[in-house]
Amino acid sequence: MPSVVKINVLTVPEEMRRELEKRFAGRAGMVESADGFEWFELLRPVEGSDRYLVYTRWRSEEDFRRWQESRAFQAGHAQAAAEGGAQGHGHGQGHGHGQGHGHGQGHGHGQGGPAATDAELWSFEVVESAGPKSAGPEEA
Ligand code: HEM
Repeated sequence: MPSVVKINVLTVPEEMRRELEKRFAGRAGMVESADGFEWFELLRPVEGSDRYLVYTRWRSEEDFRRWQESRAFQAGHAQAAAEGGAQGHGHGQGHGHGQGHGHGQGHGHGQGGPAATDAELWSFEVVESAGPKSAGPEEA
């Protein structure tokens, strides 16, 4: 079974970019311990797109789904889930439980609220991959 890549594509207004990056810098870091987790990168747009990509790679669709339904996912999205803004639409696979998708928890403690105005989930299967012989996602 090939690994799967799940990319959350975030539209972030210019004035919220610093805030978004700050939040990721202070992220819960729980995704690292999720079963089947293989890789994560926050990608800042430079050319060709103005959307941020949250790149994640998983052993299987099932592992990704379990993480998305987990408390760790909710905890990792506490700020993103605070009141207002992005409603987490366009995920392509029915978020359903209101976890961490810019709604559903509604604390809204002042600095809360999502930095992104829109989010879209892209899914891929890894067909081929390579890295340096000594490092890279396979060996990490
Ligand atoms: C409306 C949907 C989403 C928005 C607006 C969003 C935004 C954010 C933000 C701002 C953070 C930083 C932490 C925080 O602010 O609390 C974060 C963390 C993260 N997000 Fe999302 N996110 C969404 C859904 C998703 C989805 C579907 C994925 C799957 C690819 C994902 C992957 C991640 C990962 C891996 C982290 C780091 C969590 C950790 O360290 O454990 N996000 N997200």
